Amino acid sequence: MFIVAERYWGNRVDASTQQIVSMSQRMIEKCCLQTYAASHFGRGRVSAHSKSLGFAPWCPSSQYSSWVKISAKTFSKLITTSVMRKHDVSVLIEDEDEEEPPLEQLSLAQHVITVEKFLPEAQILRDVFDKRFDNPRDISPERFMWDYWHVPDQYTLIRTQAQVYFSSALYDRLEDALISYGESVLGCRGITPIWMSYYVDGCVQELHCDNPHGPFAFVLSLTDWDARKFRGGETMILHPGVLDYWGSLYSSQQGLEQQQLVQLVEPKFNRLTVFDPRFPHGVKAVSGTRDPREARLVLHGWFTEPTPFFRGGLSADEAASALDDAMGDIMEILQDLPPATGILTIRLEVNGTTGEITKLEWLADTLIATPGPHGVPSDQVRAGMQQVISETLLGSADSPSNIRFPPSKDGTNTEITLPIVFE
Ligand SMILES: [Fe+2]
Repeated sequence: MFIVAERYWGNRVDASTQQIVSMSQRMIEKCCLQTYAASHFGRGRVSAHSKSLGFAPWCPSSQYSSWVKISAKTFSKLITTSVMRKHDVSVLIEDEDEEEPPLEQLSLAQHVITVEKFLPEAQILRDVFDKRFDNPRDISPERFMWDYWHVPDQYTLIRTQAQVYFSSALYDRLEDALISYGESVLGCRGITPIWMSYYVDGCVQELHCDNPHGPFAFVLSLTDWDARKFRGGETMILHPGVLDYWGSLYSSQQGLEQQQLVQLVEPKFNRLTVFDPRFPHGVKAVSGTRDPREARLVLHGWFTEPTPFFRGGLSADEAASALDDAMGDIMEILQDLPPATGILTIRLEVNGTTGEITKLEWLADTLIATPGPHGVPSDQVRAGMQQVISETLLGSADSPSNIRFPPSKDGTNTEITLPIVFE
């Protein structure tokens, strides 16, 4: 027996496995697994081709309590046995020297995503901007809708709301494209109002974090990047290793420079950059042009409202009961694991005749294990959570999943995009 219960103030107590697991069920920091009720959010539009379902949060609150320290080996075994046997802890009591292979991550965290040639109408949007700045002596009203936004030592840029700048038809095409992407890839049903900003000489965004705005930020570039006459202008996002510097990047034998510390994303024309806005990020200072027509020009905002989406045979209402059961089973196990924060978006394929889940894809992953005294390596926490989700929904060779959706009325399969939010 090698599990040790450890109160965070240092009072160590030996305990049996059963006691530990029982205690952990009550006391380990809760992994708050949550989907958001669609009714809690008012922004954004839902495209006609998808149906959203408003779930009440499965686990609306978390209670921080750092109680239990377990080894990676035990953690691995706990995951496996929890999934297969629902806390049958007897299998944990084995020889301490037995080697247990590390759990495999089924998905790798991706904090920056780029999509090239995102919007078919990008050049039309760009042409509107160019036409309005074509004659510097023009005094038409459309030239006066810009805000010079200057927060000393933090933000300097010129911005406007895309919705007032472009025609309704053009704005709707832009918004629809972003919402469609958010639904199908990120599991988000809404976006914030879209900003448009240009950066000329002296414009900059210093490092900052946009934690409350939404789980994903986006930047859609209208910059003529290849013909640029300025320096700077890249979107910069701290590398994950910087946030775990002493545990990953630091070496007494080697110095580090910008490229090892910051990921720079060039705002190439019509490139959509999606990133985790909890990471410190900014825009490199622009220098070299004062002409708006030569500026760094971007549309930007945040994807919001993580919500399940359904395409195919089953409606949201028809799938609700089985999905609720599935997430309840997953939550029951995850709440006992070390904490994590971020979002995992998965896509399930449900057989229209049998109701079985036949396929699981990992779409978006910003999950980060929260450091703590539990002692489980970050990659093992992530892997464990993924294994729980996968084995509960898909089952395994030893233990088939008991999750069953109802057959669809016409027998066609259903595709469910499911964001799982950890807080
Ligand atoms: Fe930001």
